[in-house]
Amino acid sequence: MTQPIISFKNFTFKYDSQAFSTLKNINLDINKGEKILIAGPSGSGKSTIGRCLNGLIPNIDTGDIEGECLVDGKNIKNTNLFDLSFTTSTILQDTDSQFIGLTVGEDIAFALENDCEPQNKIRQTVHRWADELNISHLLKQSPQNLSGGQKQIVALAGVLIDESPILLFDEPLANLDPASGVKTMALIDQIQKELNATVIIIEHRVEEVMSQSLDRIILINDGEIVADKKPNDLLHENRLEDIGVRSPLYLKALEEAGIDVASIPDLTSVAALPDEAEIDNKLQYWLITAL
Ligand SMILES: Nc1ncnc2c1ncn2[C@@H]1O[C@H](COP(=O)(O)OP(=O)(O)OP(=O)(O)O)[C@@H](O)[C@H]1O
Ligand SMILES: [Mg+2]
Repeated sequence: MTQPIISFKNFTFKYDSQAFSTLKNINLDINKGEKILIAGPSGSGKSTIGRCLNGLIPNIDTGDIEGECLVDGKNIKNTNLFDLSFTTSTILQDTDSQFIGLTVGEDIAFALENDCEPQNKIRQTVHRWADELNISHLLKQSPQNLSGGQKQIVALAGVLIDESPILLFDEPLANLDPASGVKTMALIDQIQKELNATVIIIEHRVEEVMSQSLDRIILINDGEIVADKKPNDLLHENRLEDIGVRSPLYLKALEEAGIDVASIPDLTSVAALPDEAEIDNKLQYWLITAL
C-alpha cells in the first residue's frame, strides 16, 4: 500500500500562549490525490490543522507537540518553513494580504522568481496558468483593483504556479457570493485533476464545497476529530448541525417538508435527489404552507 501524503498520529498541539491543547489526539491519514473538506465550528482548530500542513506550526506559531505529523514524509517537528513551502501551497481567505506584485502578472510570477527560475520559463508558466484560469486579460492590472472573485482567482494562480503536491485552502469562499463560490469550487476541481494534487479545503460553507465531488469530510469539534466520513454517509447521519455547522439548505427543506431523508440514497446534491412525485408533492405542500 502507498504511504499517505499526510499522516497525523496521536497528534496533540498546544500553542505556547494557550493554557490548553488546541488539537487533541488527532489521527488522520490523507492519501495522495484525495480531496478533503475540514469543517467544524469557529475556534474548533481547523486552521491550526492547516498551519501544521504548511509548517507555520511549529516554525512561526510555536508550541508543544505530542505524537507525530508527517507531511510528504517530513516530520513537521524538524522541517523548516522553506522545505515545506515546496510541498504545501496555501490559499488564504484574505487574498489582499497575499498580493506582492504591482501587476497581476508580477504577482503570479513572484513564487517562481523567488525560486530563481529563468525569466523565459517564468513568462511561459505565467501565461499558461493565466490562460488556464481565464485571466490573461488581467495580467497588466493592479491586483488591488480587481473584484473579490477575480482576486481569488489571481491568488490561486500565484499559488498554483508552484505546482506543489498539496493545496491547502483556508476558507476560500469567505468573500464570495454563492455563484462565485460554486465557480471557485469548479476551478479547484479542474486544477486538482490537472495537477493530481491533494486538496484540503477548510470551510464552513459545506453546501457550496459539495457542489463538486469530495472524497471525505473531516468534522472537527473542540480540537478533536468527531467524524471522518464520505459526504453521503455523513449527510445521512445528520450530524453537521449538532456541532454548529450549517447543513445544506436543500436537506433542511426536505426535513421540514417531512420527507424521510434517511431513505434517499444520494444526498450529496439537489441533482442527485430522486425525481419522485411523493417528494415533489410534499415539498410543494411545505412551500405553500410555509409562506
Ligand atoms: N497563533 C495562535 N496562537 C495562539 N492561539 C491560537 C493561535 N491561532 C489560533 N489559536 C487558538 O486556537 C483555537 C483554534 O483556532 P483556529 O484558528 O484553529 O480555529 P478555526 O477552527 O480555524 O476557527 P475559524 O472557523 O473561526 O477560522 C482558538 O481557541 C484560538 O484562540
Ligand atoms: Mg480558521
